[in-house]
Amino acid sequence: MPAPDYQHELDAAIAAARKAGAFVRTRIGRAGAIQEKGLHDLVTETDEASQRLILDVLAEACPDIEALAEEGASEAEQRDDYGRPRWIIDPIDGTTNFTHGVAPFCISIALHDGEDLVLGVVYEVTADELFAAVRGRGLTLNGEPVGVSSTEDLEYSLITTGFPFRLFWYAETYLAVLHQFMLATRGIRRPGSAAADLAYVACGRFDGYFEAGIAPWDVAAGIVLVREGGGRVTTLGGAKRGMLFGGQILATNGHLHQAMRALTEPLGTAYTSGTDTLA
Ligand code: IPD
Repeated sequence: MPAPDYQHELDAAIAAARKAGAFVRTRIGRAGAIQEKGLHDLVTETDEASQRLILDVLAEACPDIEALAEEGASEAEQRDDYGRPRWIIDPIDGTTNFTHGVAPFCISIALHDGEDLVLGVVYEVTADELFAAVRGRGLTLNGEPVGVSSTEDLEYSLITTGFPFRLFWYAETYLAVLHQFMLATRGIRRPGSAAADLAYVACGRFDGYFEAGIAPWDVAAGIVLVREGGGRVTTLGGAKRGMLFGGQILATNGHLHQAMRALTEPLGTAYTSGTDTLA
């Protein structure tokens, strides 16, 4: 039996991302009521409305596929052994950017088939850039094929990352790792959307990305983009599983993976050995 091409699911995810993105664009500068789910963890009325739009489009097109969406997700749903197909959705990745009117912020929709991620769509709202990928079928940006960079030396690389901002037990190790990257690379950026970080690695703008403290919906779609763009995604210590529900990720153009992993491995150890206490 031939492997599914997921074209119907891809069309639904693209339609949902574009519809939600068009709505979010109308709300820039007027996010609506802002709540803090936790320290520095914001959700706005626009996040919730975007999520409803996305879920409605996906439910109509694919009524049998469940969804794990950021707003309202339970701890029990955030398991790696769920075993059934489901969408993994971030209705606005980069909510803090969005509430401050700062780019980038993205609609991020992934499909997990119960075993692995098979489809990813990231729509960066401000630049009207839609990244789309299905496992085994390559990566496109606004319909055109794109891929990772060819940079083979950290010295000539531009790296993106996310700072600790709500969990801090590993912050000192993070800063030590960041210092190493300052010395070893051409530069470092912190755009504020993990979905955009991964999309920009996938299309060759950044050469690598690392972060600890991320959620499954932040990175699910971007992982598919990087893989289909010809890059590589592991945990900070180089493990092939654990990025989606393990809260830590290293994504590169492939050429730089070992060199970056040598620098990020201590961060992965610090992140997994700590407890959820604020400094
Ligand atoms: C956040 C952004 C940010 C990353 C955080 C995420 P959210 O997503 O992706 O860049 O550093 O870890 O939580 O909360 O704005 O959807």
